[in-house]
Amino acid sequence: MIVIGCSHGKYLAKDIAKQVKASYSELESRKFPDSETYIRFRIDLNKQSVILVQSFYENVNDCLVEVLLAAQGAKRLGAKKVTLVAPYFPYLRQDKQFNKGEAISIGIIGKIISENLDSIYVMDPHLHRERTLNHVFSIHNKKLSAYPLIADYIKKNIKNPIIVGPDYESYKWAETVAKLLGCESVILEKKRLGPRKVVISLNKKVNFKNKNVVIVDDIISTGHTILETSRNLKKFNVDKLTVICVHGIFVENALSKLKKAMINVVSCNTIPGSTNKIDVSEIIAESLINKR
Ligand code: R5P
Repeated sequence: MIVIGCSHGKYLAKDIAKQVKASYSELESRKFPDSETYIRFRIDLNKQSVILVQSFYENVNDCLVEVLLAAQGAKRLGAKKVTLVAPYFPYLRQDKQFNKGEAISIGIIGKIISENLDSIYVMDPHLHRERTLNHVFSIHNKKLSAYPLIADYIKKNIKNPIIVGPDYESYKWAETVAKLLGCESVILEKKRLGPRKVVISLNKKVNFKNKNVVIVDDIISTGHTILETSRNLKKFNVDKLTVICVHGIFVENALSKLKKAMINVVSCNTIPGSTNKIDVSEIIAESLINKR
């Protein structure tokens, strides 16, 4: 097995390679002057099982093109199998036509990946209407989850927690984490009025007194969901809270907005960043070993 660190995966790939006791090599990746992507392997891939590690952040489309070039490139260089490990995999939220004329990205991107790779491992994919990865990919796939690690983090760092899921979609992970901790959880309801505008309300009464509120969500992107949740919780005298997410995308200065609102932010290292306090490399390595 050879683990290849792609441009947005190398920060994690070396650790994974060490844990699975595989060779490690970094993908050479750069841009031609006209912005086309160039890639080159620096290791012999003939008859090897190749693991490409790539997360998808900042320029998601470039990350995707790099993976497609690497997957096909590896096969032409004799790789017998190519697997993509995606700590964060994008394009899963557009899972229906919200407005007439829209493309349903989840199916299109899923098809392109399935046509070019043999296997895919995704950490906490945002699956809502499509309930499993089998609905997205036609190749071997594995869904990995960081929620046990999040529960563990809370257990070690936050006393007397109550878990809050910011919207209906989050009930799965809020409940999972609360169950692992044996504590209470509550879900809020979110109405999305546009890509940057959401309105949130509490759907059941809860006593937050003497509790440390921990919001758990899969993704923080613009931060609007969490900021709205925090504003709503203030009505219930919650003025101190922690938010823990799996994927900290943090676009449009989300992190500074959250910090300005006095929200303590913690994330997993599925995307590199200053809030990363939970390491997912072991879960990825374990699942690769078990597959072997
Ligand atoms: C939505 O369904 C997800 O679970 C997250 O709540 C959402 O993607 C967060 O986005 P934003 O930070 O832009 O509000």
